[in-house]
Amino acid sequence: MQSTRTSALSLLALLASAVIAVPDTRSLSSVPNTFPDFSACSSQPSVYSCENTTQIANTCCSPTPGGLVLQTQFWSTYTGLEKRGQKLPKGSWTIHGLWPDNCDGSFEQYCDLSRQYDPAPSKGVPPYTGPGIDTFIREFGRHDMLEYMEKYWINQGAPNKDFWAHEFSKHATCTSTFDIACYGPSYKKHEDVINFFDAVIRAFHQYPTFDMLASAGITPSNKTTYSLGKIQNALKSQTAALPYLGCSHNGTVLSEVWYFSHVYGTEQYGTYKTLDSTTPSSCSATAPIWYYERTKSSEHEVRK
Ligand SMILES: *[C@@H]1O[C@H](CO)[C@@H](O)[C@H](O)[C@H]1NC(C)=O
Ligand SMILES: *[C@@H]1O[C@H](CO)[C@@H](O)[C@H](O)[C@H]1NC(C)=O
Ligand SMILES: *[C@@H]1O[C@H](CO)[C@@H](O)[C@H](O)[C@H]1NC(C)=O
Repeated sequence: MQSTRTSALSLLALLASAVIAVPDTRSLSSVPNTFPDFSACSSQPSVYSCENTTQIANTCCSPTPGGLVLQTQFWSTYTGLEKRGQKLPKGSWTIHGLWPDNCDGSFEQYCDLSRQYDPAPSKGVPPYTGPGIDTFIREFGRHDMLEYMEKYWINQGAPNKDFWAHEFSKHATCTSTFDIACYGPSYKKHEDVINFFDAVIRAFHQYPTFDMLASAGITPSNKTTYSLGKIQNALKSQTAALPYLGCSHNGTVLSEVWYFSHVYGTEQYGTYKTLDSTTPSSCSATAPIWYYERTKSSEHEVRK
């Protein structure tokens, strides 16, 4: 009995290693790279964006003028499209975007109408009617990215892909390190879109709001409230800076966070130095603040 079981097991192990040893060359070779051409940046002096802009000669190498970079997130309790499977990720806030504020906190938007993919843009900007931005991601073979974005980059009242297109067209087109010129002569159409989404996901990973709050005993509750100071301290103790906190319902329901930073190098690959918010919180400094539990049917497990 013993020996039969052992040999059956080793046969299984042999089969398993044979399966693992065969590389899937077909799918590997079908995923194109989306690297910009930052070779010219190697000879540029390194400075944080907004800290000495006279040193920034090549705007592909540091976000300029939009060097005050904001990674923004939402806490919402429903999506409105639950019936279509658009749900919120359990145990996580969701991505809003990555915004290039000017150093003084003002900002530009929709800077390149030749890269306008937003079906519902601000007034004065022509709406986009072509194929969804998700098709660009598929063309680049980035099913991993699409799967991640469907879990963590969630829209309210409209499909997720419309929100991604909005964020790219409104903000990434104003971020100099994603300018088409930065991709050099081998630029592949929509490569900048894929490269931006990768950058947003990387920046989002730097600020795990749900976990930072939970580690300070601040978890969603429909019974207990928290003070603004307690929420701010929890995030400041982990990021070394005060983020902007946004609240709805006259400053009493927590709904947003914005992390401010200067970037050393590019938004894509550089180092983010987190800084205090330039905008005062819209949450009440005195009233108790609700960090609501989500509607059960609006949430799903995403970590499997
Ligand atoms: C900024 O950089 C320029 C050029 O290298 C230099 O002359 C100037 O002193 C720097 N300014 C500050 C405030 O560091
Ligand atoms: C909103 O909040 C302010 C400041 O906390 C308070 O004075 C005001 O009465 C509130 N308004 C409403 C409609 O609850
Ligand atoms: C908690 O309260 C919010 C706001 O009233 C509501 O939308 C949500 O469904 C509640 N969640 C649970 C689990 O009761």
